Amino acid sequence: MAGTVRISGSKNSALPILAATLLTNERCVIHRVPDLSDVHYMLQILTHLGAEVERASGIVTVKAEKVATEAPYDVVRKMRASVCVLGPLLGREKEATVSLPGGCVIGDRPIDLHLKGFEALGAAVRVHSGNVKVLAPSLRGASVSLRGKLGTTVLGTDNVMMAAVLADGVTVIQDAAREPEVVDLADFLNKMGAKIEGAGTSRIVIEGVKELHGAEHEVIPDRIEAGTFLVAGAIAGKKVTITRANAGHVAAVADALKTCGYQIAAKSDSLTIQANGTPRPLNLCTEGYPGFPTDMQAQMCALLATAPGESAVTENIFPQRFMHVSELKRMGAAIELDGATARIHGVASLSGAPVMASDLRASAALVLAGLKADGMTEVSRVYHIDRGYELLDEKLSGLGATIERVKV
Ligand code: EPZ
Repeated sequence: MAGTVRISGSKNSALPILAATLLTNERCVIHRVPDLSDVHYMLQILTHLGAEVERASGIVTVKAEKVATEAPYDVVRKMRASVCVLGPLLGREKEATVSLPGGCVIGDRPIDLHLKGFEALGAAVRVHSGNVKVLAPSLRGASVSLRGKLGTTVLGTDNVMMAAVLADGVTVIQDAAREPEVVDLADFLNKMGAKIEGAGTSRIVIEGVKELHGAEHEVIPDRIEAGTFLVAGAIAGKKVTITRANAGHVAAVADALKTCGYQIAAKSDSLTIQANGTPRPLNLCTEGYPGFPTDMQAQMCALLATAPGESAVTENIFPQRFMHVSELKRMGAAIELDGATARIHGVASLSGAPVMASDLRASAALVLAGLKADGMTEVSRVYHIDRGYELLDEKLSGLGATIERVKV
């Protein structure tokens, strides 16, 4: 397995940006939208809310001339990120009702910080019969901190930003998430005529405007897909180049791999990884951006499973996000869970086995472990993968991996 792979547009950027198109009755054109089931769900929600949606080879056009303000359970239950239509609907229509997101295998995922932000802008919040309703005769700018027990919130920052762009006056979001996807959303909103400053820092200032207009935008590269392919190269011990990536956005992952002993050559939009002898063990903690991303934690566990020595991976964002551990142990990994830390004792090799995917990133980790394992690994429930990776099996085949999607 070796060669070059092109990175797709970012799922976690495309989803809130598509929701933001609800903020105007004019046409918006979004480029580089990845072909993923989560994107499909978001387009279903926009259509359900009354928007005209067209889609052709990575370009999505949305015109939300009129919008309904209720997104029901049967469309919302498929994807938690649906919650990010709350902000745009509240901003534009001053009311919104969305089904409360249910449980999630990666851990507890409340939306209290989102609602705290809406209340600061003057909205009344009501949770009833599994729905959350937000309502405001008008929205007025305010200062609000989005710091919670486990740090700040990415979609919460997006949601409050999208509600505040049409509020009267100035909103200051303190302790905002600094993820590149938040910056990408702010860039799109500013193209629509919003006045946002400070995105990418922990203090975002939004001066409300009367209305927004249509805009055209290209979504940033998917930094988690980029990180996943860097780990694929590492785990296979081969030379892999990822292109159409943003090297800056992948820096924390690249630094961790360098600490393990891999050589990484970075240019602005591409990175090449190369093995350099036996990987070294690593102690790693997940953090908000620019720290090491929680969405790369499982993939690193798969890599460190065969790095001689003791590694420790601590999950600070979703402390229970270790569904992949029991499946990796079925492949022969030696991992103990100690609270929110996985203690990994490197083994000489993994053996192929039938394993079950539980969530998006855990399933990617199992595929990567399968690239390393002796014999055949069969990953079931791969629909999880299709939620967040565009053509993962084809891209890996393109690098020479022996991987096949089997219809069951
Ligand atoms: C976004 O989820 C991403 N999803 C997640 O990626 C990612 O894991 C997460 O950010 C963290 O980076 C999308 O962008 C669509 P959070 P989000 O609110 O915004 C707690 C993937 O694999 N919290 O930043 O929902 C929460 O429970 C997905 O692509 C509150 O307590 O995550 C968590 O512990 C999985 N109250 C922490 O904050 C709130 O109101 C961070 O969650 C909100 C969050």
